[in-house]
Amino acid sequence: MRTARCAPDGAPWYFVAMLTDRSVGIPALSVAALLLATGCGDADVPVPSAPHGGGTGIEGRIEALLAQMTLEEKVDQMHGRAITPTGDLWPTPDNSRLGIPGFQMVDGPRGVRAGKATTFPVGIARGATWDPALEERVGEAIGEETAAKGANVILAPTINILRHPAWGRTQETYGEDTNHLGEMGAAFITGAQKHVLASAKHFAANTIENKRFVVDVQMDERTLREVYLPHFEKAVGDAHVASVMSAYNQVNGHYCSENPHLLRDVLGGWGFDGFVESDWILGTHTTVDAALAGLDIEMPSGLFFGPELVQAVNDGEVPLSVIDEAVRRILRKKLEFGLDAQKSPDPSVVESAEHVALTREVEREAIVLLKNDGAALPLEGALGSIAVVGPLADAINLGDHGSSNSVPSHAVSPLAGIEARARGAEVVHVPGPTLSASDESAIASASAAIVVVGLTAEDEGEFQGEGKPGGDRHSASLELSADDEALIHTASALNPRTIVVLEGGSAIVVRPWVDEVDALVMAWYPGQEGGDALADVLFGEVSPSGKLPLTFPRSALDLPPFVNDQDEVTYDFLHGYRWLDAHTIEAEFPFGFGLGYATFVYANLRLDAAGLPSDGSITATVDVTNTSERAGDEIVELYVGYEGSSVARAPKDLKAFTRVHLEPGQTKPVALEVRAKDLAYWDTDASGWRLEPIAYVAQVGPSSRELPLSATFTLAD
Ligand code: BGC
Repeated sequence: MRTARCAPDGAPWYFVAMLTDRSVGIPALSVAALLLATGCGDADVPVPSAPHGGGTGIEGRIEALLAQMTLEEKVDQMHGRAITPTGDLWPTPDNSRLGIPGFQMVDGPRGVRAGKATTFPVGIARGATWDPALEERVGEAIGEETAAKGANVILAPTINILRHPAWGRTQETYGEDTNHLGEMGAAFITGAQKHVLASAKHFAANTIENKRFVVDVQMDERTLREVYLPHFEKAVGDAHVASVMSAYNQVNGHYCSENPHLLRDVLGGWGFDGFVESDWILGTHTTVDAALAGLDIEMPSGLFFGPELVQAVNDGEVPLSVIDEAVRRILRKKLEFGLDAQKSPDPSVVESAEHVALTREVEREAIVLLKNDGAALPLEGALGSIAVVGPLADAINLGDHGSSNSVPSHAVSPLAGIEARARGAEVVHVPGPTLSASDESAIASASAAIVVVGLTAEDEGEFQGEGKPGGDRHSASLELSADDEALIHTASALNPRTIVVLEGGSAIVVRPWVDEVDALVMAWYPGQEGGDALADVLFGEVSPSGKLPLTFPRSALDLPPFVNDQDEVTYDFLHGYRWLDAHTIEAEFPFGFGLGYATFVYANLRLDAAGLPSDGSITATVDVTNTSERAGDEIVELYVGYEGSSVARAPKDLKAFTRVHLEPGQTKPVALEVRAKDLAYWDTDASGWRLEPIAYVAQVGPSSRELPLSATFTLAD
C-alpha cells in the first residue's frame, strides 16, 4: 500500500515560500488551490506486482497498456502527485487498475536528500578529480541509496555548464568545460542507473539563480550546440540517461519546458527515448504549448497537466498522438528499469562503511594544491604545535541548503581531521575572526598555521527567495569576506609557514593575499569525511592530485560579465579558459591546474596516424614520468587548437584527459583519444556538424596553460 499525504511531516518545503515571493515575477498562487488542483488526498492505492500489459517485449507491452488506458489514465501518468513531497520523495500516480507503478523521485547530486544519507563532496569537487571511473562509483553509491530509500528516480546529475563562478549552483555541476562535464556526468549516470533512473538537469543553459524562473537566455544556434548542449548529448548518447529535467529559464524566447527546439529538434535529433520532466512548480507555464513542445511530465503536480490537459485533448488543441507519445516514453522507462517488479531495498547500504570510505577517497582526489612555496606542505617531521585558525576550522560545511542538500549522520571537520592525525603535535584551535593577544602568540609560536576560511550556504547556493541564504554569489568581486582576508593577513604576518585551506563551491579571487601565504589548498565542500581527507593530504599520506575544473581568475573583471538582475541575457561562445585564452588574460590559477608533492615530466608525444578518419578517432600517446620520490597521480590533459578554420574558434578546447598513477621514478605511456565528431563545428546554414579539412594541433600537458608538447594532424584522405 502506498499513501499520498498532502503535507510532509516536519518543515514546509521551501517552494511554498517561493510561491508567495513576488521576486519570482510570477503571480503568487494559493497553496490551498494548488493542493486541491493536484488531487492531493488520494486514498491508498494498492499496486499489483506487474502491469497487465499482455504484449511481448517492452514495446509490445507498452502498446498493449496504451490500448487499455483511458485518456484520463494517460494524462495521470504525466504529472506528479502534489506540490509537497511525500516524506522526502516526489511521487507520480500509480495506476492500480493496470498495475502501473508511479515514479518516486528524490534529489540530489551530492547524496540522497531523504533523511540521513552518505554525503559526498559536491559536484564541482568531484569535477576536480577528473576521474570518471571514480564518479561512476559515486553514482552507483547514490543510486543504491536512492533505491534503499524507496525511490526510483534520482534527480541528478546537475550538468549545466559553468559559465561564471558567481552562479549560485556552481557547486552542483562539474565545471566549465563541456568535454570534461560530459565525461563526468555520463559516468555518474552509468553508475546511478545500475540501481535507479537518473535525471540529467537542468536542460538547458541554466546558469543564473536569482532570475532563474524568468530569464530568457539568448544565444545563436552554434553557441547552443557547441557549448551548452554537448554534455547533455553525452548523457543521452553515451550514458542512455532515462530522463532529462527541463530548466526553469527560457532559451531564445521559449521556456525550456515548452521549447520545441530543445525538446523536439535537439533531444529528438539525439534519439532520446526517455522522458522529460519539468523543473518544480514554477517550471511549467502552459498546458497546450508544453504538451505540443514535448514535455512529458509536469512536476511536482498536475497544475497544467491535470484536467486541463484532458480538456485540451477533448477540445482538439492537443492531438491524442502527443499524449500517447509522452506516455510511451514514461512507460518505456518504467518497464526497462523494472519498476513493476517487487523489490526489497536493503536499508543497510545507506551510510555503509563502504560508501562513507568512498567519500574520503573522492575528497583525497578532489583537493587541489594551488600553491606550495618552500615545501610548506606536507607537514612531516617533528612539529611542536599547529595552530588551526578560522571560522570554518571547526565547522561542518558540506554545501548549500537547497534541493541538493544532503545530511549525513556524522561528519569530520578540518580541525577533527587534523587533531586525529597530528602525531603528538599540540593542536591549538583559534576560531577568530577577532584575535586576542594569546591567539596571536599561539599562531606565532606554532610550527605551522593552517587557516580554514571560505564560502558557506550563506554565500552561494540554490535560490530560495530574496533575502534568503544562497542564490548567486553575494560578492561580485568573488573575493573572501573582509574578516577572512584580515585573518589571513594577520596569520601570515605572524607565522612563516602559513597554509590557507579554502572551502566553497566555486572560484575565489585570492589576489589580495595570496603572495603572503606559503601554501594554498582548495578543499571545496568536502563531503562528510572531508576533515580526514584533508589531513591525509596535509600530512603527506597522499600526494594531492586534484586539478581545477574551472578557472580561478585574478579578478572578476577578467571574466565575462555576470548579469543576474535582467530578464534577458545574451551569451556568446566564450567563457572560462576559452575567454581568457581568446583575450590573452593571465589566470591566477588556470583551468586544469593543480600541484602535487610528486612531480611529473612529459615526453615523446606521438600520434597513431597522420590523418584522422572523419568517422573515427586519433590517439595521441605521451610518456609521463614521476620524477619525484613520492607516488602520485597525474591528470594528463589534451587540448586541440585549429589552424585555418573558416569560422571563429576558441584558441583551444579540451578534448581528452586521463588520470594515471605513477610510483617514484616510474614512466608510463598515456593514451588520449580524440574523436573526429568532437572537432566539428555547428554549421548553422546547413543545420548540421561540419568537420573541416584543416590542421588540428594537439597540445598535451598538465594544465590549460602548460602544454609543453604538441603534434599536428589533418583529416585522413
Ligand atoms: C531544482 C531542481 C530540483 C527540484 C526538486 C528545483 O528547485 O531546481 O534541481 O531537483 O527543485 O527538488
